[in-house]
Amino acid sequence: MKGVILAGGKGSRLYPLTYATNKHLLPIYDQPMIFYPIQTLVKAGITEVLIVTGDIHAGHFINVIKNGKELGLTHVEYAYQEGGSAGIADALKYAEDFADGESIAVILGDNTTDADIAPAVNKFEQNGGGAMVFLKKVIDPERFGNPIFDKNNPEKIIKIVEKPSSPTSEYAVTGLYFYDNDVYAIIRGLRPSDRGELEITDVNNAYIERGKLSWSELDGFWSDSGTFHSLFRSSRFWAQKRLGIKYKEIVAGNAIPKSKIA
Ligand code: DAU
Repeated sequence: MKGVILAGGKGSRLYPLTYATNKHLLPIYDQPMIFYPIQTLVKAGITEVLIVTGDIHAGHFINVIKNGKELGLTHVEYAYQEGGSAGIADALKYAEDFADGESIAVILGDNTTDADIAPAVNKFEQNGGGAMVFLKKVIDPERFGNPIFDKNNPEKIIKIVEKPSSPTSEYAVTGLYFYDNDVYAIIRGLRPSDRGELEITDVNNAYIERGKLSWSELDGFWSDSGTFHSLFRSSRFWAQKRLGIKYKEIVAGNAIPKSKIA
């Protein structure tokens, strides 16, 4: 399986930090943000990676990642996403040539996790195709893709709703996905959402309609890092992990009101 890291978009929720560089090169504790998804892939044995980026700071990546050797990559390619912030599914379309018929593990460049995804990679490759999403229980599911489960079969996702005003489960669909080679045809059939983007949630719903979406719960810490609070939370987790301190979620104790963390 090959890996794809999506690191486009404008990072406008992190202005003024992202006036200086691309969001995915900002620090999470002691490393650039994008090192974390790279390490998740490398730990699972995925060492051929495509980085999709765009916008005005796209050129900064090569200075930081270089040829990827220091990070354990055997092959790194870069693709340029046109149009600033056209959506996650739009960014993924640039992976078609790189994938060359193989399945891909996709990670959003602002997601960090200490979960080991190697067992899921093996399971997906043995099952032969479809798509797999990874869920995580969160206190703010309205900020994410949110799965609706079948009332008669709580193991089955019947639909994913992007940022619902009234979530029906406590789960976020994290920014880690496995896809077979059908994904590009699905993307070609998408229309932009109300926010003007090609949505990854629409891709996942297309797999649900074909009966080809499986899911797994991420075991460990997971967070995005695209807002000031989530960037802070990710930094705090990785600092504590490196220093051997047990991680404690400060939002859970209402140290920061939930309404302030979006
Ligand atoms: O973090 C998980 C969530 O990510 C999922 O639960 C949602 O279903 C999914 O839509 C996404 O939500 P966000 O609205 O938080 O995504 P955001 O626009 O912040 O983009 C996340 C990453 O995707 C970003 O760090 C880089 C990549 N991206 C995004 C866009 C809009 C691109 O590469 N190109 C793009 O045009």
